[in-house]
Amino acid sequence: MIEQLSVQHLLGIKDLTKEDIELIFRTADNFKDVINRPIKKVPSLRDITIANIFFENSTRTKLSFELAEKRLSADVVNFSASGSSVSKGETLVDTVNNILAMKVDMVVMRHPEPGAAMFLARHIKPNVINAGDGTHEHPTQALLDAFSIREKLGRVEGQKVVIVGDILHSRVALSNILCLQKLGAEVMVCGPVTLIPKYMSSLGVKVEHDLKKALAWCDVANMLRIQLERQDIRYFPSLREYSMLYGLNKRLLDGIGKQLVIMHPGPINRGVEITSDIADSEHSIILNQVENGVAIRMAVLFLLAQMRGI
Ligand code: CP
Repeated sequence: MIEQLSVQHLLGIKDLTKEDIELIFRTADNFKDVINRPIKKVPSLRDITIANIFFENSTRTKLSFELAEKRLSADVVNFSASGSSVSKGETLVDTVNNILAMKVDMVVMRHPEPGAAMFLARHIKPNVINAGDGTHEHPTQALLDAFSIREKLGRVEGQKVVIVGDILHSRVALSNILCLQKLGAEVMVCGPVTLIPKYMSSLGVKVEHDLKKALAWCDVANMLRIQLERQDIRYFPSLREYSMLYGLNKRLLDGIGKQLVIMHPGPINRGVEITSDIADSEHSIILNQVENGVAIRMAVLFLLAQMRGI
């Protein structure tokens, strides 16, 4: 029997079951073997056309999806809001319907508004994959993060993971919390009071404002970027002060007296949330996360395409 996902779209981790996530991981294991072979391409999505539509900047996610699609032999069209007719007042649905008129089967979308991917999925037939919707969810990032923890430590269940930084504005934080909890990890968030939303404790995560205590508790530290572009007011006095209290550096880690796995979804602000000696150290799996992103996105695209009966 062919194993299938329980969803037709990937809008958020909240819609996935533990079995869905484990199926994505097993499929990604196979694709990771494929992308490490001399011939990295498989014909799985040969008759599928995928539109990557990005209304917000991206380096990793955009390149990773495009590479995943090309490794699966899909036809790919790319759309960026800058330089498009969006600036002339065209709506999201009109923009997407025009792209779909060109016979597109799947849409990967990044958008600054929370809920944009869900809105799109209600209005169009193709499978929608959320590549980040504002401060809401970034499901493939959470999947590749949990997959990277599994790869490094052997399992996710039972691991203690702290997510540090700008939790308030982070879609990565919410998707990571939901994904890690579904897989049986314990999650803590750490940061200034102003950057941790009050509803965090209701999600069943621990809240800590002292980075040293958080690091002493955890097995894995996922350091987030301060999202200045989403901050309408000042949430802390200065980046220098933030870095002194919540930046990860060698002195702090040496003082903990144990080895932690260090993660960061990127883009990194070196010297703010993490120093270069830690970001580039043997304990950092930041580039493994990027590598695993391609295999995870191949798995998601392949499994969603399977629901279309290809
Ligand atoms: N991690 C991540 O989403 O990075 P980009 O914004 O570069 O895609």
